Amino acid sequence: MYNPGGRKKETAQTPSVGLTFIQEGFPAALNVKCHKQPELRITMMDKTAATEAKIDRSKLQSCLVRQRELFAREHLRSAELFEQARSSMLSGVPMNWMVKWAGDFPLFVREAGGAHFIDVDGHEYIDLCLGDTGAMTGHAPPAAVEAIVERVRHGTTFMLPTEDSIWVAQELSRRFGLPFWQVALTATDANRFAIRLARQITGRKLILIFNWCYHGTVDETFITLEGGIAGVRRGNLGPAVDPTETTRVVEFNDISALEAALKDGAVACVLAEPAMTNIGIVQPEPGFHQALRDITRRTGTLLILDETHTICAGPGGCTQAWGLQPDMLTLGKPIASGIPAAVYGFSRDVAGRIAQAMSVGDSDTSGIGGTLAGNALSIAAMKATLEHVLTEPAYERMIALASRFTEGVQSVIQEKHLPWIVKQLGCRAEYWFSSEPPLNGGQAAAAVDSDLDCYMHLSALNAGILITPFHNMALISPATSEADIDRHSQVFRESVEAILG
Ligand SMILES: Cc1ncc(COP(=O)(O)O)c(C=O)c1O
Repeated sequence: MYNPGGRKKETAQTPSVGLTFIQEGFPAALNVKCHKQPELRITMMDKTAATEAKIDRSKLQSCLVRQRELFAREHLRSAELFEQARSSMLSGVPMNWMVKWAGDFPLFVREAGGAHFIDVDGHEYIDLCLGDTGAMTGHAPPAAVEAIVERVRHGTTFMLPTEDSIWVAQELSRRFGLPFWQVALTATDANRFAIRLARQITGRKLILIFNWCYHGTVDETFITLEGGIAGVRRGNLGPAVDPTETTRVVEFNDISALEAALKDGAVACVLAEPAMTNIGIVQPEPGFHQALRDITRRTGTLLILDETHTICAGPGGCTQAWGLQPDMLTLGKPIASGIPAAVYGFSRDVAGRIAQAMSVGDSDTSGIGGTLAGNALSIAAMKATLEHVLTEPAYERMIALASRFTEGVQSVIQEKHLPWIVKQLGCRAEYWFSSEPPLNGGQAAAAVDSDLDCYMHLSALNAGILITPFHNMALISPATSEADIDRHSQVFRESVEAILG
């Protein structure tokens, strides 16, 4: 495991008799206006309690087999459709990740509303995956549906702006503190465009990312550290260039590595999530964001914060909640209630530098934009989402329910003496099969337990609960209820009890 700077593992954050540990202190460190804190916490087992419980691996294997059989028996129509689909789609799915589920085939969805969906076999599920954040608004939120239908009736795309775009840009400025905005169709595109612009205005070639991050299918970001050496990330298909030519990579929370990587002034931008979410949740240590901002400013490196997942922290993501001050910000997924849309914003200084680099004559061949980007439908959906769905009161409910989820899982961890933890960031929570919170992406990647992951996912699914396939993550929507959360706590308990030694 890569251990940046030979630092000791996490001792400062580990309470000796730890029931609940709440991290604090970001906004004060940044010396800007304090906003209400999102729930940001890690709860872990009381280490002075009785001996740690052990997972019985042979029980785990037999439970896994039973859950697989049950899944196959109960989802005959999905299995049939999957068989049909294999003759006309690669791997039998319209998008390659749709095979990354714990069962032997994906569920086919019939319909969804709020926090629930129904599959083609007629089973109803509590959706804690929510399209991996694309549906964090809940499915088909009525206010967004109304605005979307209304827009569809009156034309969706013109290559011309609609008045709604002004409201959306102003609202984004209010939430994130950046005065200028552009619209793309996906968060991947927003990141690509932000990186291009950063290169253009700094005249620098390289970017920097954190180990095991994910920012969409952006070529420059498919690079990881193995034993401290940077190389192509596992699974990266057909990379155009060796990513070490475009990108530097350091571990999250490793301030000295960051300093060393930026000090020669060759890096155009750091692209970062405020807290990592894609290798499980990895939270910033106190002082990390202040250091990130100081070092990037000192070295003339632009700071791009990707809030696509961390929008779970509150209406203005971690940027608002922790008082962060990025030069650029990107955000996609839930911002238009499931209609493809993403945004990227700039500080006044950055906007001025971009304006100097742009020419109207060549604007359609700049490598930035797209025919459908900024279309009237995406924008109408964003307006409705920001105005009526992802509102302050909605976040208050969602975050309280995520705390309820965390407490439900934690009570089982505690009672069963499991060496596991549960982490929460706003309305996102996940449990983790390790007794220590990972400090960085390298540690998080090394702690993955695929068999346990697979079993917990499948037993939840068979009990009518969908959690995010990539790790044990639950997301709460404005439509999720206390009953949904309590059902998860009960299913989690039963799943755990079945595999204890
Ligand atoms: C932080 C982050 N940024 C960007 C993206 C890319 O989003 P999309 O696949 O919608 O382009 C993702 C996708 O998971 C993400 O997690």
